[in-house]
Amino acid sequence: MLIRKATAEDIATIRKLEHETETAAHWGEREYDALFAAEAPRRIVLVAAEEAGTQIVGFVIARCAEDEWEIENVVVAPDQRRRGLGSALVRELVQEARRSVAASVLLEVRESNAAACRLYEKIGFNQIGRRPDYYRNPPEDALLLRISISVR
Ligand SMILES: CC(C)(COP(=O)(O)OP(=O)(O)OC[C@H]1O[C@@H](n2cnc3c(N)ncnc32)[C@H](O)[C@@H]1OP(=O)(O)O)[C@@H](O)C(=O)NCCC(=O)NCCS
Repeated sequence: MLIRKATAEDIATIRKLEHETETAAHWGEREYDALFAAEAPRRIVLVAAEEAGTQIVGFVIARCAEDEWEIENVVVAPDQRRRGLGSALVRELVQEARRSVAASVLLEVRESNAAACRLYEKIGFNQIGRRPDYYRNPPEDALLLRISISVR
């Protein structure tokens, strides 16, 4: 399995994966179009594919502030789950944050999203807070998770 940085050509597939995934964070077309715009906030988008040139089957998007990165979305295609892809994407993202000398990676997750909560916990994220009624449709608390990363 190959994990690589996304290019503008990957956006259509990323959007399709996101649209088909109820528990994903949902963005509008403008937000996706802005991902690679010069004036856009700094973000990193990693994608997973079987090998170079094949269909993307997962992605992770994070916003990169100097000190702290925030995972905004992570999705693996339903027929490709439980193969370690989600973990591989998030681990590589954390590695990139470490390389950029960020101190931590943050994220919010629905409390009921057991698959994602378990994945993050296995990677080493810890709960540092809760945002009551953060989500809509249906309303639910968000758990705020963070992993501290040492600078090498
Ligand atoms: C969350 C998601 C990205 C995980 O992707 P994945 O490729 O299946 O994850 P992995 O195979 O790396 O799983 C890693 C670990 O997470 C846990 N996990 C993953 N899916 C799980 C599930 N359905 N139920 C319970 N635990 C699960 C397991 O501990 C798993 O390790 P194991 O397979 O050795 O038991 C995927 O389920 C997904 O795309 N969900 C919809 C989008 C979403 O909710 N994103 C999170 C937004 S915050």
